[in-house]
Amino acid sequence: MKLTVIGGGSTYTPELVDGLARAHAALPVSELVLHDPDAERLDLVGGIAARMLRRAGHPATVTTTADLDKAVADATVVLLQLRVGGQAARHVDETLPLECGCVGQETIGAGGLAKALRTVPVVLDIAARVAELAPSAWIVDFTNPVGIVTRALLDAGHRTVGLCNVAIGFQRRAAGLLDVPPDRVSLGHAGLNHLTWVRSVLLDGQEVLPRLLDGHLGALAEISGLPAPFVRGLGAVPSYYLRYFYEHDRVVEEQRGAPSRAEQVAALERDLLGLYADPTLDTKPAQLDKRGGAFYSEAAVQLVTSLLTGRGDAQVVNVRNHGTLPFLDDQAVVEVPARITASGAVPLPVPPVEPLFAGLIAHVSAYEELALDAALRGGVDRVAAALLAHPLIGQADVAERLARDLVAANRDHLPWA
Ligand code: G6P
Ligand code: MN
Repeated sequence: MKLTVIGGGSTYTPELVDGLARAHAALPVSELVLHDPDAERLDLVGGIAARMLRRAGHPATVTTTADLDKAVADATVVLLQLRVGGQAARHVDETLPLECGCVGQETIGAGGLAKALRTVPVVLDIAARVAELAPSAWIVDFTNPVGIVTRALLDAGHRTVGLCNVAIGFQRRAAGLLDVPPDRVSLGHAGLNHLTWVRSVLLDGQEVLPRLLDGHLGALAEISGLPAPFVRGLGAVPSYYLRYFYEHDRVVEEQRGAPSRAEQVAALERDLLGLYADPTLDTKPAQLDKRGGAFYSEAAVQLVTSLLTGRGDAQVVNVRNHGTLPFLDDQAVVEVPARITASGAVPLPVPPVEPLFAGLIAHVSAYEELALDAALRGGVDRVAAALLAHPLIGQADVAERLARDLVAANRDHLPWA
């Protein structure tokens, strides 16, 4: 079985390889292909990937290539984890909006829109090659903004499921608080990618969220990054991405004086690549835990295994809404538990969503629709319209200024600008 990773030169790749190595029995990968335009990274990351598999006694070969057609031909699964423009473009996403008093984040608000504009055309070109050269392959998208990118892929007719590690990360933390193995814990997780609330935690099918809120409120609040009384008042646990909404102005203040996440990650990446260059290193280095992708490998391995074996378990993924959240368009992409079979992910029913959450979900979903339109058809006016629709922007003058500035700063990455 051939598994291809687009953006395989990412410093995250050893995280993924670690999961593949441990899952060999369930997921028999025979060929791991790492595709990346950056030859130097590919060399370093390919080296440690091969050493890690060898150490684990895993028989897969590791191939590195900058040739997309070669990478995707006859693949069974293509995993997208690329980042158009690298950390330099991310730095702009995280700093430029601050000049207008708006949060700087690579997946939220204006920064997230800039990332969508850069990413959607590139991902669609890659997916078109997959459709041609590996028509039955599954495309698993971890590339942000996952909700918008997944919708672009589904609209173009691709066999796609979108993936994020927020839900699995919470499931692991909740299992730790309950002191049980994670597979006994399932989440009532609902919303859009990076805009979700956990409204139910089932342990062996029994509701335990009230017990967790009573006994572990401090830990749950820490996961959200929000004050404990506020989380208790919501009666649900918001993902840490909700802090960008619920404490927007405070986050802007914090970001103004601090180095960007892109700058921190760039430094971390230099260290990681230095470590990967060591020919004796054959395990995932501890420093990798400083990146945000914890449990990404486990989520990816679980999803791919279920898509290939059709085992029908429930996993939180990004899928078409199809009435799951009745206040959204059927074509919208939502992040909810879904049954994963060989024919894809089918969302499980979600209990009615409280207006406090539904209002924000609907608002951001409308933004996502306009963001995708701007990414596909281009034009500063469409970018401004998407920004006007975003709940964290929403003012005409700010939307127009940010649209102009974002397009100018990303010109090299936008086919239409
Ligand atoms: C989490 C999110 C991912 C995001 C990552 C950023 O894992 O779910 O979507 O890409 O954080 O981590 P980084 O180390 O790049 O800041
Ligand atoms: Mn994510």
